[in-house]
Amino acid sequence: MNIHTKKKDHTISRHIYGHFAEHLGRCVYEGIWVGEDSSIPNTRGIRNDVVEALRKLHIPNLRWPGGCFADEYHWKDGIGPLEDRPTIVNTNWGKVTENNHFGTHEFMDLCEQLDTEPYICGNVGSGTVQEMQEWVEYLTFDGESPMTNLRKKNGRDKPWKLKYFGIGNENWGCGGKMRVEHYADKYRNYQTYVKDLSGNEIYKIACGPQEADYHWMEVMMREGMDRIEPVKDAIIENIWDYHRPEMNGISLHYYTRNRANYTSATEFDEALWFDYMDRTMKIEEIIENHTAIMDKYDPEKSVGLIIDEWGTWFKVEPGTNPGFLYQQNTLRDALIAGINLNIFNNHCDRVHMANIAQVVNVLQAMILTDGEKMILTPSYHVFEMYKVHHDATLLPTNVSSRYYTYEDKHLPMINVSASQNQSGQINISICNIHPSVSDDIIIDLEGLTSEAQVEGRVLTADQINDHNTFDAPNNIQPIEFNDFKIEPNKLMVTIPSKSVLVLQIN
Ligand code: AHR
Repeated sequence: MNIHTKKKDHTISRHIYGHFAEHLGRCVYEGIWVGEDSSIPNTRGIRNDVVEALRKLHIPNLRWPGGCFADEYHWKDGIGPLEDRPTIVNTNWGKVTENNHFGTHEFMDLCEQLDTEPYICGNVGSGTVQEMQEWVEYLTFDGESPMTNLRKKNGRDKPWKLKYFGIGNENWGCGGKMRVEHYADKYRNYQTYVKDLSGNEIYKIACGPQEADYHWMEVMMREGMDRIEPVKDAIIENIWDYHRPEMNGISLHYYTRNRANYTSATEFDEALWFDYMDRTMKIEEIIENHTAIMDKYDPEKSVGLIIDEWGTWFKVEPGTNPGFLYQQNTLRDALIAGINLNIFNNHCDRVHMANIAQVVNVLQAMILTDGEKMILTPSYHVFEMYKVHHDATLLPTNVSSRYYTYEDKHLPMINVSASQNQSGQINISICNIHPSVSDDIIIDLEGLTSEAQVEGRVLTADQINDHNTFDAPNNIQPIEFNDFKIEPNKLMVTIPSKSVLVLQIN
């Protein structure tokens, strides 16, 4: 394996390590929000243990309120005194009652407690242009206006800063079942009223395709942005910002799942291990194909590919509500997280943000809760180990990997990304997907001397389906790794089977 230490063209945005919290199952309610009167320690209703754990991940942004929930969410239901907020039905997720106790102020408070950037997804499917415009005004306007007055009445004097705003979610599906030709016009319409106010600058994210829907990408790149040359009009120029692209990012959703046959998150054999590694790796080809379309219309790569939903999707845990998408998280999820993040890092010229689904108690969660108890999942540990890549410079890698063969199918056994941070530290994250074979890797690293300081941590387990439980919360956690040798310009590493390894070289 060769790491190019001289080729430093792109930065791995920390926003690739973003998260997602939807009003779905026990993500927001119980996972994050317990209310001020709860016996679970909380700050203004938000549970302290979850905030403390997430702060250790340095999470860069948090997407909210959905997901499918976003396109049936009317934000004015979630402001004002709790007792006055209407109770609605969460039609997408179990048709349960939503009391709107967690709304705009609570979400912005959560982001402040987490020290993370809010990424709000607006309602195109069942909401109005006016509603979206007013939400942005409520959040960001400093001057005198009806929305400012409403915000002040609800206890917040100064506006918040809000950068990331999504114009709808999955508008080809739960967000309105639109054809892309229709959505492209809707997008142009809605985004016009998502304005920069009081010095706040919004990064607008269009609803993009699901998986390999290349037609959706083609039409959005062709029609979604205003490609007309700005009119040179000195007066108008000062009033309307003609020079900003009207679409800063476009989303892509790709879950590692088998929609014809959802299987257990914890009970699986090698066939399913292999199958899920294979499904995970497919995202690379999909990113490359979408990128090729985007490159045609945007060769400067100014529009970000925003993978704002990704991760594993299994059968729910036995005995839980099928609409709550609560699943356990094993070593297999850790490998899947590591592979995805390596792929996103390696495509950071186009992938500007990603959000794993979801942060607590839903799908490939970082954290699982049971009443007052909380555990960290193997996926959490991968995010914690990989934070060395945040805002570091990508170092391209050439990998000639051995193959992991299962029956008559083959996958590259090793998956890698590398970066260098501002103080010169080189970070290498390596996944070995083979369930039983370790690998001796020679890393060519120009400039490496025998004085170099190398530190490593590895995440692995005895069994492919090992996981943390409320009774054994530390079954899987990273441990120190020393199985390497340093030679001039070379690092020799023996990576254990089924493991995620992160090396830091100073
Ligand atoms: O993350 C769960 C759901 O998956 C989201 O609500 C939706 O956008 C996607 O289909």
